[in-house]
Amino acid sequence: MNLLLMGLPGAGKGTQAEFIVQKYGIPHISTGDIFRAAMKNKTPMGVKAQQYIDKGELVPDDVTCGIVEDRLKQPDTDKGYLLDGFPRNIDQAKSLEDMTRKMGKELDAVINIEVDPKVLVDRLSGRFICKNCGATYHKLYKKPIVDGTCDVCGAHVFYQRSDDKPETVKNRLKVNEKSNAPLIDFYKDRGILHSVDGDRDIADVSKDIDKILSNLN
Ligand code: AP5
Ligand code: ZN
Repeated sequence: MNLLLMGLPGAGKGTQAEFIVQKYGIPHISTGDIFRAAMKNKTPMGVKAQQYIDKGELVPDDVTCGIVEDRLKQPDTDKGYLLDGFPRNIDQAKSLEDMTRKMGKELDAVINIEVDPKVLVDRLSGRFICKNCGATYHKLYKKPIVDGTCDVCGAHVFYQRSDDKPETVKNRLKVNEKSNAPLIDFYKDRGILHSVDGDRDIADVSKDIDKILSNLN
């Protein structure tokens, strides 16, 4: 199954991706995660990406498309993949269409998580992440079962993303609202778009996504 999860920053892409990759055993390809790993290791690509990410801007298409193409060439994607956060504009979508056509790995479905932008600032400012395994939590909506301990790996150290600062969040939302809208029509035209109401409990959103994916099989 070749899938794409779309949605504005904070819509719940990463949260829902955790469930999907666990259930379907496909690799999770998040361009945001790839950039953060490169930034942490201070690679030339990471240093370049950081200039954009810190301002809440999109990283230039040539950098982003190249990364995804290299990742999709890896054999672990032959049986399916879950893209999260790519494509984010029409040029990226066309580039993905070209590269996946050549590889025989075209998208089967696009899941668009719809959330009222008004709630997203609250979601992003309350987010915290396990430093060891990357599992995502929220101070109100998704607390670890045991306070201060990661449910997934048992670690005790968490951090907040540097781009979750209020000023950066505002710009991320503005930039993404503008670039995301045309993508919805792009995938609607191709007949593979499925929208879910992401403004509900995490488990309810998961159930809806699961229903869509079960019908694809
Ligand atoms: P990226 O890491 O992809 O960030 P994003 O798109 O801004 O999305 P987030 O990861 O912030 O949100 P999410 O939807 O995954 O939400 P989450 O599940 O964590 O990209 C970062 C940056 O990299 C970009 O700004 C850009 O600069 C660059 N970049 C990446 N891809 C690019 C591309 N293709 N082109 C160019 N540049 C690119 O949930 C958020 C919080 O809400 C969590 O705390 C969670 O616990 C909570 N939550 C989740 N669901 C619910 C729910 N249903 N109810 C209540 N709380 C919930
Ligand atoms: Zn963890």
